[in-house]
Amino acid sequence: MRDFTQRSHATLALMKIETRAVHAGRHVDPATGAVSPPIHLSTTFERSPEGSYPRGFSYSRDGNPNRLMLQQCLADLEGGKEALMFASGLAVATALLQGLEPGDHILAPDDVYWALREVIGGVFGKFGFETTYVDMTRPDDLRAALRPNTRLIWVETPSNPLMKITDLAAIAEIARRHKNAITVCDGTFATPILQQPLDCGIDMVTHSTTKYLSGHSDVVGGVLIARHENYLFERARRAQTYGGAVPSPFDCWLTLRGIETLPYRMRAHTEHAQRLALHLRSHLKVEAVHYPGLPNHPGHAVAARQMSGFGGMLSFQVRGDREAAMAVAARCRLFLRATSLGGPHSLIEHRASIEGPRTRTPQNLLRVSVGLEHPDDLIADLSQAIG
Ligand SMILES: Cc1ncc(COP(=O)(O)O)c(C=O)c1O
Repeated sequence: MRDFTQRSHATLALMKIETRAVHAGRHVDPATGAVSPPIHLSTTFERSPEGSYPRGFSYSRDGNPNRLMLQQCLADLEGGKEALMFASGLAVATALLQGLEPGDHILAPDDVYWALREVIGGVFGKFGFETTYVDMTRPDDLRAALRPNTRLIWVETPSNPLMKITDLAAIAEIARRHKNAITVCDGTFATPILQQPLDCGIDMVTHSTTKYLSGHSDVVGGVLIARHENYLFERARRAQTYGGAVPSPFDCWLTLRGIETLPYRMRAHTEHAQRLALHLRSHLKVEAVHYPGLPNHPGHAVAARQMSGFGGMLSFQVRGDREAAMAVAARCRLFLRATSLGGPHSLIEHRASIEGPRTRTPQNLLRVSVGLEHPDDLIADLSQAIG
């Protein structure tokens, strides 16, 4: 039997990310020679007469071949030691929070993905965490907010939906001096193709794999990747095994398949978003465009340093109020009015109405996930919609 996994570990590390996206974690199926991995639906795996599990699997909540392949691939792409795949992006955050102790202090961005605020304040409200929301684009604010009991520093860059950019190396440096805190970066908007938080010294990275990583708007998932062993990762593993927030084998298979084209999709998403942002910037009925690839974006210099591309997400504020923004979305013919991001279809969304009454998002803001359609068609559609 050809041991493709061993061979790939030895040589893949030296190869480019496009190659690793296709090969990392994969092996030709030893039983059949299948190049695309089989989907292992079995929930249970045979023991040896001595009682051991010689193939490494016992029960699918603990581990499954499709999940393992995906985890190995994601750990490789992110340059991490190990990855854990969860049933959703929010299940990752939930597992990490379950690992904290009552009274622990959390630092999170003031514009953190809105549902995470709901999880911390709502679902975990009775756990007695102390939480401070700070502007992470100002490292001094973070430094000032640290407490002796700060255990988790959560960063999201680029942020959703204002596209704020946080200097990951600066955050990692501050956290390093404060020995007790573990840093986690939500890199969903950037993916490992455009940004490598672990290289900047961040302890763990998370992605909603629902978005670009799976890439086709047909599977929900989340991943946690650690640069080194740490107690929160181990507790997240335990929360996953015994809490049960595991993805199905088919979901893992779909996500792994999506990753094969991720580097090329990210290039196209980025190119299209850059063109759209430039177009919107010069539109008289547009008040502001939030895209880190624009030189006047406040985070442009940091993004240019820590990202290899500015990504496919942008938001813009129309001149006028909530109704004016809603009307633009309503007039779109090609852009679909739908939440989420990272798929081939371009999506447009009035964020404030999704985020509810406590939203901090401007009412005249529309968030755009720029898809893989031709950019000329996207520009034409938004132009007619804005009027
Ligand atoms: C930046 C970011 N993080 C996390 C999540 C949560 O991921 P999921 O919907 O897979 O639970 C989302 C979802 O939109 C997101 O945009």
